[in-house]
Amino acid sequence: MAKIRKVGVLGCGLMGSGIAQVAAQAGYDTVVREVEQKFLDKGIAGIDKSLGKFVEKGKLTATDKDACMGRLKGSTNLEDLADCDIVIEAIIENAQLKKDTYAALDKIVKKDAIFASNTSSLTITELSMATARPKQFVGLHFFNPVPLMKLVEVVRTILTSDEAFNTAFEFAKSLGKEAVSCRDNSGFIVNRLLVPYILDAIRAYEEGVGSIEDIDKAMMLGCGYPMGPFTLLDFVGLDTTYYITTVMFEEYREKRFAAPALLRKMVLAGRFGRKSGAGFYEYASVAAGGTPIPFDKAKHQP
Ligand code: 3HC
Repeated sequence: MAKIRKVGVLGCGLMGSGIAQVAAQAGYDTVVREVEQKFLDKGIAGIDKSLGKFVEKGKLTATDKDACMGRLKGSTNLEDLADCDIVIEAIIENAQLKKDTYAALDKIVKKDAIFASNTSSLTITELSMATARPKQFVGLHFFNPVPLMKLVEVVRTILTSDEAFNTAFEFAKSLGKEAVSCRDNSGFIVNRLLVPYILDAIRAYEEGVGSIEDIDKAMMLGCGYPMGPFTLLDFVGLDTTYYITTVMFEEYREKRFAAPALLRKMVLAGRFGRKSGAGFYEYASVAAGGTPIPFDKAKHQP
Protein backbone atom coordinates (compact mmCIF):
# COMPACT_ATOMS: atom_id res chain seq x y z
CA MET A 1 0.00 0.00 0.00
CA ALA A 2 1.31 3.49 -0.89
CA LYS A 3 2.50 5.60 2.02
CA ILE A 4 0.84 8.96 2.53
CA ARG A 5 3.22 11.60 3.88
CA LYS A 6 2.00 14.85 2.41
CA VAL A 7 -1.63 15.88 2.00
CA GLY A 8 -3.04 18.49 -0.35
CA VAL A 9 -6.45 20.07 0.15
CA LEU A 10 -8.19 22.14 -2.48
CA GLY A 11 -10.47 24.75 -0.98
CA CYS A 12 -10.24 26.32 2.48
CA GLY A 13 -13.95 26.90 3.10
CA LEU A 14 -15.94 25.17 5.83
CA MET A 15 -15.15 21.63 4.64
CA GLY A 16 -11.68 22.19 3.15
CA SER A 17 -10.41 23.96 6.26
CA GLY A 18 -11.81 21.17 8.45
CA ILE A 19 -10.13 18.50 6.29
CA ALA A 20 -6.81 20.40 6.30
CA GLN A 21 -7.11 20.73 10.09
CA VAL A 22 -7.66 17.02 10.76
CA ALA A 23 -4.84 16.07 8.35
CA ALA A 24 -2.39 18.42 10.09
CA GLN A 25 -3.64 17.25 13.50
CA ALA A 26 -2.95 13.65 12.45
CA GLY A 27 0.68 14.60 11.76
CA TYR A 28 0.65 15.04 7.97
CA ASP A 29 2.42 17.90 6.23
CA THR A 30 -0.57 19.62 4.70
CA VAL A 31 -0.92 22.20 1.94
CA VAL A 32 -4.28 23.87 1.52
CA ARG A 33 -4.92 25.84 -1.64
CA GLU A 34 -7.48 28.58 -2.21
CA VAL A 35 -8.07 30.81 -5.20
CA GLU A 36 -7.64 34.02 -3.22
CA GLN A 37 -5.54 34.95 -0.18
CA LYS A 38 -8.56 36.38 1.68
CA PHE A 39 -10.36 32.98 1.58
CA LEU A 40 -7.17 31.30 2.78
CA ASP A 41 -6.79 33.76 5.65
CA LYS A 42 -10.40 33.21 6.72
CA GLY A 43 -10.11 29.41 6.60
CA ILE A 44 -6.80 29.31 8.47
CA ALA A 45 -8.17 31.68 11.13
CA GLY A 46 -11.06 29.20 11.54
CA ILE A 47 -8.59 26.33 12.00
CA ASP A 48 -6.68 28.33 14.60
CA LYS A 49 -9.96 29.02 16.43
CA SER A 50 -11.08 25.39 16.32
CA LEU A 51 -7.71 24.15 17.63
CA GLY A 52 -7.91 26.86 20.31
CA LYS A 53 -11.22 25.37 21.47
CA PHE A 54 -9.60 21.95 21.82
CA VAL A 55 -6.79 23.53 23.87
CA GLU A 56 -9.37 25.33 26.08
CA LYS A 57 -11.07 21.99 26.71
CA GLY A 58 -7.79 20.21 27.51
CA LYS A 59 -8.11 17.94 24.45
CA LEU A 60 -4.93 19.36 22.89
CA THR A 61 -1.83 21.01 24.38
CA ALA A 62 -0.77 24.48 23.26
CA THR A 63 2.48 22.90 21.99
CA ASP A 64 0.54 20.39 19.88
CA LYS A 65 -1.60 23.21 18.50
CA ASP A 66 1.54 25.12 17.45
CA ALA A 67 3.03 21.97 15.90
CA CYS A 68 -0.21 21.38 14.01
CA MET A 69 -0.30 24.96 12.68
CA GLY A 70 3.39 24.51 11.72
CA ARG A 71 2.52 21.48 9.54
CA LEU A 72 -0.11 23.52 7.70
CA LYS A 73 0.80 25.64 4.71
CA GLY A 74 -1.62 27.87 2.82
CA SER A 75 -1.13 28.60 -0.85
CA THR A 76 -2.87 30.16 -3.82
CA ASN A 77 -0.80 28.10 -6.32
CA LEU A 78 -1.80 24.68 -7.59
CA GLU A 79 1.94 24.02 -8.15
CA ASP A 80 2.43 23.80 -4.38
CA LEU A 81 0.47 20.53 -4.42
CA ALA A 82 2.92 18.88 -6.87
CA ASP A 83 4.58 16.52 -4.37
CA CYS A 84 1.47 15.58 -2.35
CA ASP A 85 0.66 11.87 -1.98
CA ILE A 86 -3.08 12.53 -1.81
CA VAL A 87 -5.07 15.58 -2.87
CA ILE A 88 -8.57 16.05 -1.46
CA GLU A 89 -10.76 18.49 -3.32
CA ALA A 90 -13.36 20.44 -1.33
CA ILE A 91 -14.21 23.34 -3.63
CA ILE A 92 -17.75 24.47 -4.46
CA GLU A 93 -20.21 21.90 -5.79
CA ASN A 94 -19.90 22.75 -9.46
CA ALA A 95 -19.13 19.77 -11.69
CA GLN A 96 -17.48 21.75 -14.49
CA LEU A 97 -15.30 23.78 -12.12
CA LYS A 98 -14.24 20.60 -10.33
CA LYS A 99 -13.42 18.85 -13.61
CA ASP A 100 -11.40 21.84 -14.89
CA THR A 101 -9.50 21.96 -11.59
CA TYR A 102 -8.74 18.21 -11.68
CA ALA A 103 -7.59 18.43 -15.30
CA ALA A 104 -5.13 21.20 -14.35
CA LEU A 105 -4.03 19.38 -11.22
CA ASP A 106 -3.47 16.13 -13.11
CA LYS A 107 -0.65 17.76 -15.06
CA ILE A 108 0.99 19.15 -11.91
CA VAL A 109 0.72 16.51 -9.18
CA LYS A 110 3.06 13.49 -9.22
CA LYS A 111 1.73 10.57 -11.21
CA ASP A 112 1.28 8.07 -8.37
CA ALA A 113 -0.68 10.44 -6.10
CA ILE A 114 -4.30 9.66 -5.24
CA PHE A 115 -7.02 12.18 -6.06
CA ALA A 116 -10.08 12.37 -3.81
CA SER A 117 -13.23 14.45 -3.88
CA ASN A 118 -15.30 15.54 -0.89
CA THR A 119 -18.34 16.06 -3.12
CA SER A 120 -21.71 15.50 -1.42
CA SER A 121 -23.60 14.34 -4.47
CA LEU A 122 -21.67 14.49 -7.74
CA THR A 123 -20.58 11.22 -9.26
CA ILE A 124 -16.95 10.37 -8.58
CA THR A 125 -16.66 8.48 -11.88
CA GLU A 126 -17.50 11.62 -13.85
CA LEU A 127 -14.95 13.71 -11.94
CA SER A 128 -12.27 11.02 -12.29
CA MET A 129 -12.62 11.01 -16.07
CA ALA A 130 -11.30 14.58 -16.19
CA THR A 131 -7.89 13.07 -15.28
CA ALA A 132 -5.58 10.43 -16.69
CA ARG A 133 -5.69 8.60 -13.34
CA PRO A 134 -9.25 7.31 -12.80
CA LYS A 135 -7.80 4.18 -11.14
CA GLN A 136 -6.29 6.41 -8.44
CA PHE A 137 -9.48 8.36 -7.86
CA VAL A 138 -11.82 7.97 -4.86
CA GLY A 139 -14.44 9.88 -2.93
CA LEU A 140 -13.58 10.93 0.63
CA HIS A 141 -16.75 12.44 2.02
CA PHE A 142 -16.38 14.23 5.37
CA PHE A 143 -19.14 15.69 7.57
CA ASN A 144 -19.62 19.14 9.00
CA PRO A 145 -18.09 20.10 11.44
CA VAL A 146 -15.17 18.00 10.20
CA PRO A 147 -13.05 18.22 13.39
CA LEU A 148 -15.95 16.78 15.44
CA MET A 149 -17.80 14.39 13.14
CA LYS A 150 -16.43 10.87 13.27
CA LEU A 151 -17.40 9.53 9.84
CA VAL A 152 -15.72 9.51 6.44
CA GLU A 153 -17.39 7.78 3.50
CA VAL A 154 -14.75 6.24 1.25
CA VAL A 155 -16.16 5.86 -2.23
CA ARG A 156 -14.92 3.56 -4.96
CA THR A 157 -15.94 3.78 -8.60
CA ILE A 158 -15.98 0.90 -11.06
CA LEU A 159 -12.50 2.08 -12.10
CA THR A 160 -10.85 2.63 -8.68
CA SER A 161 -7.98 0.19 -8.05
CA ASP A 162 -7.98 -1.91 -4.87
CA GLU A 163 -4.67 -0.37 -3.92
CA ALA A 164 -5.91 3.24 -4.20
CA PHE A 165 -9.12 2.39 -2.34
CA ASN A 166 -7.29 0.59 0.49
CA THR A 167 -4.76 3.41 0.82
CA ALA A 168 -7.56 6.01 0.98
CA PHE A 169 -9.48 3.89 3.50
CA GLU A 170 -6.46 3.54 5.80
CA PHE A 171 -5.71 7.24 5.35
CA ALA A 172 -9.25 8.14 6.52
CA LYS A 173 -8.75 5.96 9.62
CA SER A 174 -5.35 7.54 10.26
CA LEU A 175 -7.19 10.87 10.67
CA GLY A 176 -8.91 9.42 13.73
CA LYS A 177 -12.15 8.88 11.79
CA GLU A 178 -14.35 5.84 11.28
CA ALA A 179 -14.46 4.90 7.60
CA VAL A 180 -17.25 3.19 5.68
CA SER A 181 -16.96 2.01 2.10
CA CYS A 182 -19.57 3.11 -0.42
CA ARG A 183 -20.37 2.59 -4.06
CA ASP A 184 -20.32 5.60 -6.34
CA ASN A 185 -24.06 6.32 -6.27
CA SER A 186 -25.11 9.95 -5.85
CA GLY A 187 -25.32 10.84 -2.15
CA PHE A 188 -23.43 7.67 -1.12
CA ILE A 189 -24.89 6.29 2.15
CA VAL A 190 -25.50 9.33 4.35
CA ASN A 191 -27.03 11.83 1.92
CA ARG A 192 -29.05 9.09 0.23
CA LEU A 193 -30.85 8.64 3.57
CA LEU A 194 -30.51 12.12 5.03
CA VAL A 195 -31.70 14.19 2.06
CA PRO A 196 -35.17 12.55 1.70
CA TYR A 197 -35.60 12.90 5.49
CA ILE A 198 -34.81 16.62 5.41
CA LEU A 199 -37.02 17.20 2.36
CA ASP A 200 -39.83 15.31 4.10
CA ALA A 201 -39.52 17.61 7.09
CA ILE A 202 -40.14 20.58 4.77
CA ARG A 203 -43.11 18.78 3.20
CA ALA A 204 -44.50 17.95 6.65
CA TYR A 205 -44.23 21.63 7.56
CA GLU A 206 -45.84 22.70 4.25
CA GLU A 207 -48.72 20.30 4.97
CA GLY A 208 -49.21 21.80 8.44
CA VAL A 209 -48.25 18.66 10.37
CA GLY A 210 -46.33 20.77 12.87
CA SER A 211 -44.45 24.02 13.32
CA ILE A 212 -40.76 24.36 12.50
CA GLU A 213 -39.89 24.37 16.20
CA ASP A 214 -42.10 21.37 16.98
CA ILE A 215 -40.80 19.28 14.07
CA ASP A 216 -37.24 20.00 15.27
CA LYS A 217 -38.15 19.27 18.87
CA ALA A 218 -39.94 16.04 17.91
CA MET A 219 -36.98 14.61 16.03
CA MET A 220 -34.49 15.62 18.73
CA LEU A 221 -36.46 14.35 21.69
CA GLY A 222 -38.32 11.53 19.96
CA CYS A 223 -35.38 10.08 18.05
CA GLY A 224 -32.33 11.41 19.90
CA TYR A 225 -31.01 13.38 16.91
CA PRO A 226 -28.50 16.07 17.95
CA MET A 227 -30.29 18.65 15.77
CA GLY A 228 -33.80 18.77 14.33
CA PRO A 229 -34.10 18.79 10.51
CA PHE A 230 -34.62 22.56 10.16
CA THR A 231 -31.70 23.41 12.45
CA LEU A 232 -29.60 20.95 10.45
CA LEU A 233 -30.76 22.50 7.16
CA ASP A 234 -29.72 25.95 8.38
CA PHE A 235 -26.41 24.47 9.55
CA VAL A 236 -25.61 22.66 6.27
CA GLY A 237 -26.94 25.55 4.13
CA LEU A 238 -30.20 25.68 2.18
CA ASP A 239 -28.34 26.53 -1.05
CA THR A 240 -26.02 23.54 -0.59
CA THR A 241 -28.94 21.24 0.20
CA TYR A 242 -30.89 22.53 -2.80
CA TYR A 243 -27.93 21.83 -5.06
CA ILE A 244 -27.50 18.33 -3.62
CA THR A 245 -31.18 17.49 -4.14
CA THR A 246 -31.01 18.73 -7.73
CA VAL A 247 -28.06 16.44 -8.51
CA MET A 248 -29.65 13.49 -6.71
CA PHE A 249 -33.00 13.98 -8.46
CA GLU A 250 -31.16 14.07 -11.77
CA GLU A 251 -29.57 10.70 -10.97
CA TYR A 252 -32.51 8.84 -9.40
CA ARG A 253 -35.57 10.60 -10.94
CA GLU A 254 -37.48 9.79 -7.76
CA LYS A 255 -39.90 12.17 -6.07
CA ARG A 256 -38.28 11.71 -2.68
CA PHE A 257 -35.21 13.58 -3.97
CA ALA A 258 -37.22 16.45 -5.52
CA ALA A 259 -36.80 19.81 -3.75
CA PRO A 260 -40.07 21.12 -2.23
CA ALA A 261 -41.20 24.51 -3.54
CA LEU A 262 -40.53 26.19 -0.19
CA LEU A 263 -36.85 25.16 -0.22
CA ARG A 264 -36.41 26.67 -3.67
CA LYS A 265 -38.15 29.90 -2.61
CA MET A 266 -36.00 30.20 0.49
CA VAL A 267 -32.89 29.87 -1.66
CA LEU A 268 -34.19 32.37 -4.23
CA ALA A 269 -34.88 34.76 -1.33
CA GLY A 270 -31.24 34.49 -0.20
CA ARG A 271 -32.13 32.63 3.01
CA PHE A 272 -29.23 30.20 2.97
CA GLY A 273 -29.26 29.38 6.69
CA ARG A 274 -26.81 30.32 9.43
CA LYS A 275 -24.20 31.61 6.99
CA SER A 276 -26.57 34.31 5.62
CA GLY A 277 -28.12 35.07 9.02
CA ALA A 278 -31.49 33.51 8.14
CA GLY A 279 -32.94 30.28 6.83
CA PHE A 280 -35.76 28.38 8.50
CA TYR A 281 -34.71 30.34 11.59
CA GLU A 282 -33.53 33.94 11.95
CA TYR A 283 -30.27 34.41 13.82
CA ALA A 284 -30.12 38.20 14.35
CA SER A 285 -30.81 37.88 18.07
CA VAL A 286 -28.24 35.10 18.66
CA ALA A 287 -25.19 37.38 18.91
CA ALA A 288 -26.92 39.23 21.75
CA GLY A 289 -27.49 35.93 23.61
CA GLY A 290 -31.00 35.27 22.25
CA THR A 291 -32.30 32.13 20.54
CA PRO A 292 -33.01 31.64 16.83
CA ILE A 293 -36.56 32.62 15.84
CA PRO A 294 -38.48 30.30 13.46
CA PHE A 295 -39.10 32.15 10.21
CA ASP A 296 -42.86 31.55 10.24
CA LYS A 297 -43.16 33.35 13.56
CA ALA A 298 -40.93 36.17 12.37
CA LYS A 299 -42.22 36.72 8.84
CA HIS A 300 -44.51 34.15 7.37
CA GLN A 301 -47.90 34.76 8.99
CA PRO A 302 -50.61 34.67 6.31
N1 3HC B 1 -13.95 22.77 16.21
C1 3HC B 1 -13.85 22.71 17.53
N2 3HC B 1 -14.91 22.80 18.36
C2 3HC B 1 -16.12 22.97 17.78
C3 3HC B 1 -16.30 23.03 16.38
C4 3HC B 1 -15.15 22.93 15.58
N3 3HC B 1 -15.21 22.99 14.25
N4 3HC B 1 -17.63 23.19 16.12
C5 3HC B 1 -18.26 23.23 17.30
N5 3HC B 1 -17.35 23.09 18.30
C6 3HC B 1 -17.59 23.10 19.72
C7 3HC B 1 -18.58 24.16 20.11
O1 3HC B 1 -17.97 25.42 20.12
C8 3HC B 1 -19.01 23.70 21.46
O2 3HC B 1 -18.07 24.13 22.42
P1 3HC B 1 -18.56 24.66 23.87
O3 3HC B 1 -19.11 23.42 24.51
O4 3HC B 1 -17.30 25.14 24.48
O5 3HC B 1 -19.56 25.71 23.60
C9 3HC B 1 -18.95 22.18 21.34
O6 3HC B 1 -18.19 21.90 20.14
C10 3HC B 1 -20.27 21.53 21.23
O7 3HC B 1 -21.05 22.23 20.31
P2 3HC B 1 -22.46 22.81 20.66
O8 3HC B 1 -22.61 23.08 22.12
O9 3HC B 1 -22.75 23.89 19.69
O10 3HC B 1 -23.51 21.72 20.33
P3 3HC B 1 -23.54 20.17 20.28
O11 3HC B 1 -23.16 19.53 21.56
O12 3HC B 1 -24.89 19.94 19.72
O13 3HC B 1 -22.50 19.66 19.20
C11 3HC B 1 -22.52 19.20 16.87
C12 3HC B 1 -22.39 20.24 17.97
C13 3HC B 1 -21.38 18.20 16.95
C14 3HC B 1 -22.43 19.97 15.56
C15 3HC B 1 -23.88 18.42 17.02
O14 3HC B 1 -24.92 19.32 17.15
C16 3HC B 1 -24.16 17.52 15.86
O15 3HC B 1 -23.64 16.42 15.77
N6 3HC B 1 -25.03 18.00 14.93
C17 3HC B 1 -25.35 17.28 13.72
C18 3HC B 1 -24.33 17.60 12.69
C19 3HC B 1 -24.55 16.85 11.44
O16 3HC B 1 -25.50 16.12 11.25
N7 3HC B 1 -23.59 17.01 10.53
C20 3HC B 1 -23.65 16.38 9.24
C21 3HC B 1 -24.27 17.34 8.28
S1 3HC B 1 -24.48 16.61 6.71
C22 3HC B 1 -22.99 16.81 5.98
O17 3HC B 1 -22.07 17.42 6.48
C23 3HC B 1 -22.86 16.18 4.65
C24 3HC B 1 -22.83 17.15 3.55
O18 3HC B 1 -22.63 16.44 2.36
C25 3HC B 1 -24.05 18.01 3.43
